[in-house]
Amino acid sequence: MQDTAERAAHGTGAAEPFDRIRVEGASKVYPNGTVALSPVDLNIRDREFVSLLGPSGCGKSTLLRVIAGLIDPSEGDVKINGDAQRAFVFQDPTMLPWRNVEKNARLLLELENIPREERERRVSDALELVGLAGFEKSYPRGLSGGMRMRLSLARALALQPELFLMDEPFSALDEITREVMQLELLRIWQERGFTSVFVTHNLFEAVFLSHRVVVMSPRPGRIVKVFDIPFEYPRKEELRADPEFQALCQEISDCLREVS
Ligand SMILES: Nc1ncnc2c1ncn2[C@@H]1O[C@H](COP(=O)(O)OP(=O)(O)O)[C@@H](O)[C@H]1O
Ligand SMILES: [Mg+2]
Repeated sequence: MQDTAERAAHGTGAAEPFDRIRVEGASKVYPNGTVALSPVDLNIRDREFVSLLGPSGCGKSTLLRVIAGLIDPSEGDVKINGDAQRAFVFQDPTMLPWRNVEKNARLLLELENIPREERERRVSDALELVGLAGFEKSYPRGLSGGMRMRLSLARALALQPELFLMDEPFSALDEITREVMQLELLRIWQERGFTSVFVTHNLFEAVFLSHRVVVMSPRPGRIVKVFDIPFEYPRKEELRADPEFQALCQEISDCLREVS
């Protein structure tokens, strides 16, 4: 895979970004014999925003779970620099319906035995960060899809992750809400300075968000190409209409069509 040493995590103010994640020849064969991932090499720098893009079934979630340490690779290795706190966000924000916003947001901190005072400070910071201040006493059923996703982000952010792993988090949202959440995520990412690995099958989303887009192909899942996305952060809504942005999306779209 390409050497990322010369890449700077531009826009995030990192002095000398180091490799946060090193994936070395990691493959995955599930117990039923499905070859979900052929050997993958991928380095991800501290504070970088990387998207895994590809059609359904190409192994995006498998690679994310291997990176996250949720499953072991069949061969190869994943090295995480430092004892990085990890947090996950998935497409369906599973909330406990009998808990209000605040109590849902502190769920993971309770599981981690964070002391009460610290817990309350972190929850209120996280709710503020995602724009849910004032909704502490609301219940999940009273929230829109976008607000539930904000709550899902808050719950993960309360862990103060250095590694933020997201698996198609915005796929269930309508187009407008999705675009709003992309901007919100970039704002939060810049503010908090974590490393992001983001799975999506939406190429516009991948290009809009990322430093690099990793295109994957199915059967067996592998990395076909890694695209550098040259646009400066903070990225603005107007970027979507930029001819350079659209040309790059076209190029990635052609690449996807070739491999699927
Ligand atoms: N636990 C599992 N056991 C067996 N096969 C699986 C399992 N999880 C995923 N797969 C298969 O592995 C392949 C890659 O799946 P996945 O990583 O979920 O792809 P994606 O996230 O890109 O849709 C698919 O063929 C899928 O059916
Ligand atoms: Mg998936």
